[in-house]
Amino acid sequence: MLDLVDEKFVIEGGCRLTGSITVNGAKNAALPVMAACILTKGASRIRSIPKLTDVEIMGRILECLGLSVKHLEDGSLEMGTVDTTKVTAPYELVNEMRGSICVLGPLLARRNAAMVALPGGCVIGQRPIDLHLKGLRAMGAEIDLKDGYVVAYATRLRGTEIYLGGAHGSTVLGTCNVLMAATLAEGTTVIEAAAREPEVQNLAEFLVKAGAKISGVGTNRIVIEGVKELKPVDCQIIPDRIEAGTLMVAGAVTNGDVTVENIRPDHLSAVVDKLREVGVNVTLGRDSCRVRGGRMTASVITTLAYPGIPTDLQPQLMSLLSIAEGTSVITEKVFPDRFMHIAELNRMGANIQKEGPSAIVHGVPYLSGAKVMASDLRAAASLVVAGLAARGTTEVRSIFHLDRGYEHLEERLTGIGAKIKREADTKEY
Ligand code: EPU
Repeated sequence: MLDLVDEKFVIEGGCRLTGSITVNGAKNAALPVMAACILTKGASRIRSIPKLTDVEIMGRILECLGLSVKHLEDGSLEMGTVDTTKVTAPYELVNEMRGSICVLGPLLARRNAAMVALPGGCVIGQRPIDLHLKGLRAMGAEIDLKDGYVVAYATRLRGTEIYLGGAHGSTVLGTCNVLMAATLAEGTTVIEAAAREPEVQNLAEFLVKAGAKISGVGTNRIVIEGVKELKPVDCQIIPDRIEAGTLMVAGAVTNGDVTVENIRPDHLSAVVDKLREVGVNVTLGRDSCRVRGGRMTASVITTLAYPGIPTDLQPQLMSLLSIAEGTSVITEKVFPDRFMHIAELNRMGANIQKEGPSAIVHGVPYLSGAKVMASDLRAAASLVVAGLAARGTTEVRSIFHLDRGYEHLEERLTGIGAKIKREADTKEY
């Protein structure tokens, strides 16, 4: 008999969440900023780094690439290059975390070569990198795909005009890759159809502090004038808008009264607007928001690139709408196959059907606790949210997915009245 040990959350549903909870630094901002340390001479300091598996893996990849990665006592990271000869990001690590593809641009720009494992697909759908490669090739990089690796060379990247829009809109990490590469390229690079996400803006802030010349950040047209070198930086990671949205939804579905601290309200406009529309009472402060539950009614949600409703909150909003009155339609425009959580929510008594890139959510009066399995990070978050709202006990298995993007979520939710325990999950075969 083989025993495999994993972890699960055991959630006693139906507890009203009340009190204050603080949002951590954004995973999806931290990862590209960490990769950007390849570009700078000397050690940079990155503050408000969240303690997450993905950040840990990115640290290991960067160590493989010759960077020193030091965790400081105040929770920041100190990172700097010690060996510029390393250019290989191995499959074993890249495959764990697709965000690691953003080392490609910096490696090419600073070390003239890169060998980065192709990340492959995942349960939220295809994760192609054709736009990343198109952008870097336009700047003069020679790129081949060999033995599952992207093998790239460039003696000196050249600035040019690059259109980065794809079938599903702009690309966040593709924009990050080209932006980072362009900072050290010869001449001017113009990125059209650039991603406008706050995480891209946070990266640009780091780069500008380091001496890069960038304009148009936060718009669809970013212009970068190449410079000869970049210096180390002390920078701050923005609060995680997806964690904030998840906590707001958790407050709403438990009919709670929760103040979510350390947020950027301007990063959450679409989410706040949608929550208010469905009947959740949201009061915004300067860097916090108070969420009070109420009677929730159906809505139509379409995920879009920023400033639209983020795809990373689609599963959590689906949990919310599953107990809202009436029939909702949720359409995924960013990852049209990101619906693995539907079957699990239906096991909890939800009534959701998938129709192509949409989900038809018929609201039910309540969800019932069940044993469910997380398939990915945000699906895990949606099941935790559903478990908090449900009657009875929910077991969410494969909780390692959740740990990739939420730091000690069970402890923090327990602090505002949730009943959640992390337990070993031994599967017997
Ligand atoms: N796409 C292409 N070609 C490319 C790149 C992307 O067709 O070369 C498509 C994708 O398949 C998708 C769309 O473009 O349909 C947008 O993908 P994007 O490139 O923007 O995604 P990403 O940069 O790989 C980041 C986040 C994701 C988040 C998306 C969208 C990180 C590490 N990851 O991924 O976060 O869902 O942007 O906002 O920043 C998560 O945190 O759970 C997560 C999956």
